[in-house]
Order: sequence, then structure tokens, then C-alpha cells
Amino acid sequence: MNKKKRTAILISGRGSNMRSLVEAARAPDYPAEIVLVASNRPEAEGVAWAVEQGLPTVVVDHKNFAARADFERTLQSALDTYGVELIALAGFMRLMTPDFVEHWRDRMINIHPSLLPSFKGLHTHEQAIAAGVKIAGCTVHFVRAEMDAGPIIAQAAVPVLSGDTAETLAVRILKAEHRVYPAALRLVAAGEARCDREKVVISSDVSETNPLYSPAI
Ligand code: GAR
Repeated sequence: MNKKKRTAILISGRGSNMRSLVEAARAPDYPAEIVLVASNRPEAEGVAWAVEQGLPTVVVDHKNFAARADFERTLQSALDTYGVELIALAGFMRLMTPDFVEHWRDRMINIHPSLLPSFKGLHTHEQAIAAGVKIAGCTVHFVRAEMDAGPIIAQAAVPVLSGDTAETLAVRILKAEHRVYPAALRLVAAGEARCDREKVVISSDVSETNPLYSPAI
């Protein structure tokens, strides 16, 4: 295997997606190594877990910075210190400046709990319930300057059942997130998912039986 890609996970809260990435990355053949967990919120639950696991963890509290660019400069210097090559946003709830996004172009990925391009932004599950869709899911994509946009690497679908609330749907989608995010990071870190004219081309064998693409029903 080529050298593992040095990966940072950025969080703002609970960090359950971070856990799924950290756990997946423990496999000897996983192409990404988690070298840093960074949070913009000191009280984020995920920070305590990362520290417990002995992972290098930094908090860059956005409240200490007047401008977004200043916050990002401090974050960038932590990323530089750890020699980070790839960033996985995992419930990181800050918009990045176009400069930062451009610096990390095709090296920064995000997970969003909807089948993009539907239901961007906050209250995604409420949006799905309100729209009456029968299939919902999650998306891993390369980050672009526009919120919740960018070339799609992987998606997973789940049914919306009658009687679902935003909460019950969120639980079902989160299970799919934990399955699809480690698989998507694997593809990116292995160099098997690359952008071509703003669409992702996957070079490994992707068939309908690939677990990445089968619905998590
Ligand atoms: C996840 O559902 C993730 O998809 C979502 O926040 C949650 C974080 O949970 N991200 C976004 O909405 C980004 N636009 P976690 O902290 O337990 O991973």
C-alpha cells in the first residue's frame, strides 16, 4: 500500500462520524491515518472522546477570533504542524472562506445528512419530512465554497417510514452515515475517487453490489 494519507477530522459536536472514521482507520490496510482531531467548540462531546483515545486534539475556539480568516489561519497552522494532507469534516458546523476551501480543493470532504442536492443547510431531517419524500439518506462530497455543495463521492439511501419524525429519521440516516463515510474516505485516501470536471470518477470496481451504493434498508 502507498503511504497512508495524513488526515484531520474537524468536528463541532457529538463526533459520532469522527468515531466511525477513527475506528475504520485502525484497520492496517486503511489508506488514511487520523493524525489530528480539531474542534471549533471546546465543549464538543467528540473532543473528550478523542482525548480519551489518545488522539492529538486541538481546539480552535471560533469565538476568540473577530474574523473567519483569522480563525482559519490558526486552524491552518495546526494542520501544518501535523502535516495534514486530507481533511474530513464530520459535523463541523462552520462555513469556510473561499480562500481556505480553495487551498484544500479536492483534499477536503464533508458528510451531510441528506441526498444532496436536496435539503442543504440546517434542519435537514425536518426538511425531508416536510417535503414528504419517501427516500432520504446522506452524502459525502468534496467541499466547495457554497454550503453543502461539491462533487459527490458517495451516497446512501434509507426509507422514510410513515410515522417517522425528524428524530427517528435522523437515527436511521446516522447509521448510514457511519457506514458510508469510512468507505468514502477510503476511496479518497487511496486515490480512487478523483474530480473530473466537477464530477467524481471512481476508479475501483464499483458495481451494484458494492456496499457503498446499496441502500441501507
Ligand atoms: C451528522 O448527521 C452530519 O451529517 C451533520 O451533522 C451531524 C453530526 O453528527 N452534518 C451536517 O449537517 C453538515 N452540513 P456527529 O457529530 O455525531 O458526527
